[in-house]
Amino acid sequence: MSHVNQHISQLREDFMKGELSEKTLYKSPDLQFEQWMNDAISAKVTEVPACNLATVDSQNKPSSRIVYLREFGDNNFFFYTNYESRKAKDISENPHVCLTFFWPELERQIRIEGIVFAKADKEKSDAYFNARPRDSKIGAWSSPQSRVLQNREVLDTFIDINSNTFHNKEIPRPDFWGGYHIKANYYEFWQGRKNRLHDRICFTLGDNQTWKIERLAP
Ligand SMILES: Cc1cc2nc3c(=O)[nH]c(=O)nc-3n(C[C@H](O)[C@H](O)[C@H](O)COP(=O)(O)O)c2cc1C
Repeated sequence: MSHVNQHISQLREDFMKGELSEKTLYKSPDLQFEQWMNDAISAKVTEVPACNLATVDSQNKPSSRIVYLREFGDNNFFFYTNYESRKAKDISENPHVCLTFFWPELERQIRIEGIVFAKADKEKSDAYFNARPRDSKIGAWSSPQSRVLQNREVLDTFIDINSNTFHNKEIPRPDFWGGYHIKANYYEFWQGRKNRLHDRICFTLGDNQTWKIERLAP
């Protein structure tokens, strides 16, 4: 282990790719997010929509995992998952969540905090589910996400059963699978800079529904 520890303790990137300035910043975090999303797509960042979703359960125990952001706009964010998973249980106990994106190719991080406002509309979840490849649909039906499996064969058996059940048939969205709708109340845009003197600008939603913009120390 010691050589790995030595390696990671000495890894140091100097971030030089850009700066984030109040002069060019959009006054709306939604537009700023869209601009950075567009930049990430143009820069061919790997896994642009992958973000860390952090949740906290009723015992104040945090947990996090990567999910794909599938839609955003007007400070709303949507991702899709299993409604019986661990994250779903956490969300049912405590709707406060965080999303964090890290795009190393641009030396950028975006942090979003918000509240799971609702499950996505059934029509929205259906539309997204219907657009997925057939094998992903079978996968959604077959995986009791976050539950213990005795072994891999158990999962393979579920897949075989569902493949037979839906053979030559349309595959509907399972009721236990769909989207979540997050309403953001905080954003932080982070641009890596030289000598760890990064730019951090955050937007906080006030009671009057306007965004307060502040710069944070790196
Ligand atoms: C790049 C990437 C994207 C992922 N996207 C999703 C997703 O959109 N929805 C999802 O339920 N799980 C996704 N996962 C799997 C989750 O990280 C996680 O393993 C799963 O949702 C179970 O989490 P839970 O037990 O905390 O509920 C993704 C994993 C990776 C690495």
